[in-house]
Amino acid sequence: MLNRQVVLKSHPNGVPLPEDFELVEATSAEPGEGQMLVRNLFFSLEAAIRGWLDGKANYFEPIPLGGAIRGPSVARVITSRLDGFEAGDLIFGLHHWEDYSLSDANTILLSKLSPEEDIPLSYYCGGLGGSGHTAFVGLHEIGNIQAGETVLISAAAGATGSMATQIAKLRGCKVVGVVGGENKADLITQKLGADAAINYKTCGDLTAAINEACPEGVDVYFDNVGGKTLDASLQCMNTFGRVIGCGMIGDYNDQDNPTPVFNMWKLVEKELTLKGFLLYTYMDKVPAASAQLHEWVRSGEIHILENITEGLPNAGWAYSEMMRGATIGKNLVAMDLQEGEHL
Ligand SMILES: NC(=O)c1ccc[n+]([C@@H]2O[C@H](COP(=O)([O-])OP(=O)(O)OC[C@H]3O[C@@H](n4cnc5c(N)ncnc54)[C@H](OP(=O)(O)O)[C@@H]3O)[C@@H](O)[C@H]2O)c1
Repeated sequence: MLNRQVVLKSHPNGVPLPEDFELVEATSAEPGEGQMLVRNLFFSLEAAIRGWLDGKANYFEPIPLGGAIRGPSVARVITSRLDGFEAGDLIFGLHHWEDYSLSDANTILLSKLSPEEDIPLSYYCGGLGGSGHTAFVGLHEIGNIQAGETVLISAAAGATGSMATQIAKLRGCKVVGVVGGENKADLITQKLGADAAINYKTCGDLTAAINEACPEGVDVYFDNVGGKTLDASLQCMNTFGRVIGCGMIGDYNDQDNPTPVFNMWKLVEKELTLKGFLLYTYMDKVPAASAQLHEWVRSGEIHILENITEGLPNAGWAYSEMMRGATIGKNLVAMDLQEGEHL
């Protein structure tokens, strides 16, 4: 079968551009023993992919020039020679940006999905998938949030941040979001329930803005961006505060020049805990997170924000939009369906 793939054409210089990606045509392989052929339906666009485009290893191998971009997808099994999976099953796992992928027991994040009928399948690639799980695990396992505490969240209108904002509110916290636009500020206060929003692009002195929004001090900072926002938040933390190191997207487009952080002394002065985490390490916490998130989505207490781009040829453009900060909510690519196919 014809198998279109999106490959890396050039290492991005700063924000990835659509021209850094190329659509090529290949043919799909036959699954061997222990493998299955899957049809990708939705790709989750991940900030972490940016770190794999520079030709340098981080916690995953870099993607070579000409190599297919990898990312998590929701897919349907076409044929299976892997125990426990059969044709028609829906799965989640790390695949390549392509129509058809081979998957096996070693596929990272491989899990079988049992989507509920009234819940859109795309949610399992975002709010009810990695983004929601990351927000839930970060707030509870790393941040140990408690009702009544003040939680500051950066990239609060993004995939992870929008979920963290709503979860922290549902846990009885005061939530202040840091965002890069008035539309995002309105969204998180009016739709997601945040108590206040700070537009870091227009607020001037960010430390002063955080202090003004949180005169009682910040107990937990959920850091999605690092850099200047992390630095400013350190100055506003309460004694025994926790900083959740979820990501540092603010530096991903120029990783050779990370933004200096000057206020590390606050870790000592305020006896803070700063702990990074990767969701993969906490997979045992995902079933409970998933059950609770389903309940909140079903009851309407959590809104899942999605920005879905149609068609594999547009994946590079969609990723460029995400990495220049233009989007709101979870960025997904919906694969083009062929005649007779359905989700
Ligand atoms: N630890 C884990 O296991 C794990 C898992 C998933 C994601 N993450 C991390 O979580 C963070 C958020 O990821 P996400 O998938 O939820 O994406 P996302 O928040 O939807 O990412 C896009 C948003 O990031 C913000 N941003 C801040 N600085 C930026 C910059 N210099 N360039 C571009 N965008 C910038 C922008 O929002 P503003 O306009 O508001 O700035 C943009 O809209 C990332 O740091 C990611 O690495 C960690």
